[in-house]
Amino acid sequence: MSLNLCVLVSGKGSNLKAIIRASASGKIKSKIKLVITNKLTSGAFDICNREGIRCVYMAEENFSSRSKYINEFLRYLRKYKIDLILLAGYLRKLPEEIVKKYRNRILNIHPSLLPSFGGKGMYGLNVHRAVIDSGVKISGVTVHIVTETYDSGPIVMQKAVIVKDDDTPESLSLRTKKAEHILYPKVISLFESKKIKVKNQRVSFV
Ligand code: GAR
Repeated sequence: MSLNLCVLVSGKGSNLKAIIRASASGKIKSKIKLVITNKLTSGAFDICNREGIRCVYMAEENFSSRSKYINEFLRYLRKYKIDLILLAGYLRKLPEEIVKKYRNRILNIHPSLLPSFGGKGMYGLNVHRAVIDSGVKISGVTVHIVTETYDSGPIVMQKAVIVKDDDTPESLSLRTKKAEHILYPKVISLFESKKIKVKNQRVSFV
C-alpha cells in the first residue's frame, strides 16, 4: 500500500533525502506529500525546492495562540491526506492534540539505542558525545512511535552501530546517519505492507 507521508525536519535533512531516494528508487511505495519545518535555516527548503515537494514553515511562536498553531498544523495534515508522520531530526515536541489524532501513525528516528541516551537535550551530537563518554562499545539507531512522553514510545526497529576507540562525536554521527538512512525506509515499508499491533510497549506486525 502506498502511504501519504509528512516529514518533519529542523536541521540539514539528510534523513528526508534518504526517504526521497527510497521513494524514487521504488524501495518504498509511499510518497512524501508534505514537509514541515520549524526552522528557517533548515536544509528542507532547498531539498524540497529541487524535488518539487511542498515545504511549509510552521513555528508555534509565529501564531497568536497555541490552538491556532495546532489547528493550522492539523489542517495541513488533513489537506494532504497524511497517513504517516515521520520526525526526521525534528527538535520540537509535537503537541499532544496531534499525537492523539495520529495515534500510532507518528514515528521518530533517534541516533542511539533507546532507552539509552534519550530524553531532553539528547539530540544530534549531544547524543554521540554522551555515548562516547559512557564507554559503550555499541550504539545505534532507534525508530519508535511518538507518544506524549519524549523518546519513550514503543520501539519499532533498531540497528546497531559499532563505537570505535578513536571515534569523535562527528565520526560516530556520520556512521550512525548511514544506519539511519537504511533503517527509516525499512520501517516505512513495514508500515506499507503490514498491520501494526501495539500492545503496551511492544510493537509487532501482523
Ligand atoms: C539525526 O541524526 C536524527 O537521528 C537526530 O537528528 C539528526 C537529524 O539529521 N534526531 C534526534 O537527535 C532526535 N532526538 P538530518 O537533519 O541530517 O536528518
